Amino acid sequence: MTGFVSFFKRKILRIDRDRWNYQYDKGLWNGLRALDELARFSVIVGYVKFLKPGQPEVLEIGCGEGLLQQRLQSPNYGRYIGVDISDSAIARAQADGDEKCTYLVADMDVYQPAGAFDFIIFNESIYYSRHPLRTMRRLAEYLKPEGLMLVTINHHKHSDQLWEAIRPGFALVDETTTTTSKGICTCKVLSPLLVQE
Ligand SMILES: C[S@@+](CC[C@H](N)C(=O)[O-])C[C@H]1O[C@@H](n2cnc3c(N)ncnc32)[C@H](O)[C@@H]1O
Repeated sequence: MTGFVSFFKRKILRIDRDRWNYQYDKGLWNGLRALDELARFSVIVGYVKFLKPGQPEVLEIGCGEGLLQQRLQSPNYGRYIGVDISDSAIARAQADGDEKCTYLVADMDVYQPAGAFDFIIFNESIYYSRHPLRTMRRLAEYLKPEGLMLVTINHHKHSDQLWEAIRPGFALVDETTTTTSKGICTCKVLSPLLVQE
C-alpha cells in the first residue's frame, strides 16, 4: 500500500485494521515480547495449566502475534484459536503456530467462533471492543459448561471503570496482580453468570 493510501485509511478513515497493521509492521508492538511483559503471560499460563490440566481448548481474542500460545506451549492445549483484527499480526502468529493452532483475522465485536472452549482469553485486548460487556457475554456462549474467561487489564486511569463495566456479566473466581518495571497488570478468572430473561 502506498504511504498516502495507508495514511488516509489510518488517520482519516480511522480504519482499525489498517492502524494495527501499520503499528505491527513498524515494530511498534515488539515490546510485548520483552521481559517486562512476561509476568502477565506467565499468570495466564499458570491459570490454564492449573485450572484445566491436559488438553484444554483455548480461544484467544486479540491474540496479536501469538505470544501467549508460544508461551503456553503445545503440550498444554488441545486446540488453540487465535483471533485478531490485524492480518499482519496474524500472519506472524501463523508462522510460529503448530498443527493444533488456527489463527483468524476478525473483529472481536462480530466474530462467531466455531465450537466450544474451556477458556476464552482477552490478554490486553478488551479495551478495543466497542462494547466490552456485550462482546464478552456473547462470546461466553461459546464456553463449555465449566468454561472460564481470563482477562488482563493494565492499571491506568480507566481500568477500574472497565472492570466495573464487565462485572455484571461474570462472577470472580480468582485474580492476580503483577508489578513489573513497566506497570501493574491484573488478571481475573471469570465465570459467566446466567443472564436473567
Ligand atoms: C495490546 S495488543 C495485545 C496483543 C496480545 N494479546 C499480547 O498480549 O501480546 C491488542 C491486540 O488487540 C487487537 N485488536 C484491536 N482491536 C481488535 C478488534 N476489534 N478485534 C480483534 N482484535 C483487535 C490488536 O490488533 C492487537 O493485536
